Amino acid sequence: MHTKDFLSIADLSGTDLQLLLAEAVDLKAGGWNSALSGKTLALLFEKPSLRTRVSFEMAMRALGGEVLYLSPAEVGLGKRESVADVARVLSRYADILAVRTFSQQTLEELGNYADIPVINALSDEEHPCQILADLLTIFEHKGTLKGLTLAFIGDGNNVAASLALGCGLAGINFKIASPAGYELNGTIVERAMIMAETSGAEIRCDHDPYLTAQGADIVYTDTWTSMGQEAENTTRLKDFAMYCVDSALMAVADRDAIFMHCLPAHRGQEVSDEVIESHASVVFDQAENRMHAQKAVLVNVMGGAGILPGYR
Ligand code: CP
Ligand code: NVA
Repeated sequence: MHTKDFLSIADLSGTDLQLLLAEAVDLKAGGWNSALSGKTLALLFEKPSLRTRVSFEMAMRALGGEVLYLSPAEVGLGKRESVADVARVLSRYADILAVRTFSQQTLEELGNYADIPVINALSDEEHPCQILADLLTIFEHKGTLKGLTLAFIGDGNNVAASLALGCGLAGINFKIASPAGYELNGTIVERAMIMAETSGAEIRCDHDPYLTAQGADIVYTDTWTSMGQEAENTTRLKDFAMYCVDSALMAVADRDAIFMHCLPAHRGQEVSDEVIESHASVVFDQAENRMHAQKAVLVNVMGGAGILPGYR
């Protein structure tokens, strides 16, 4: 990777993405070793997590490293202590810092002050580790990335933003249908379009879920209420009522379309029980691939495949 930190999918070049995915495939196939032996990953989480926390812990341990978890109550990021000081203190104890927080600006500040690599483990704006795992999952199921079409149905949130950028980078056509007032951020759309120009992909935003899902190879959704938006839940349930990915919606997608969701899922809201439990659903492959994709990220922020003994 050509940057110290991994805070956004846009931090990756097309070459970085190819390398990370190729290494994730190799690492998943076996050959785990002690590439990160003697190294410590600190997880600093200001929001709850199942997949991200566990997959990072398992990935780091499988690579021979140690993990330190700091829960929301412990650090008081920017409250008990300034973000800059937390970054400089943790740099003296740990070798990598993965952070789940609210603002992207906090991540950037941590990255600027930390001597060690900082990884975005989800912010209000992006979820890049999720999207790397998703691209790996799509590649496994479809055998390619370039030229496919992904339809995202629902909120223009952090996952949608990273997906738009990831698809733009990988050459996957990205289409999104969101209710009025919940569209993808304009800056993200512009950045995704610039990336898509190079890769030959198309980025399209709409309000109509059926038009968007038409002929898609991948139908993706996420929660209508993200962490931190709990007070808006009742309004959101009403505003998103027409955006459930159910069998009728899947029926307009390609007949071999896969269904994706980053999880946790809310059955009967953004996805029907029937769809998430169907053969088309690859949601648990996505969850597993978090671990494999993040192994590649961890190895790369520490210097790349060269540190893997006997690799290539
Ligand atoms: N998909 C995902 O990031 O899950 P967690 O919030 O459980 O980590
Ligand atoms: N958009 C969701 C993703 C959870 C993994 C959230 O931010 O809560």
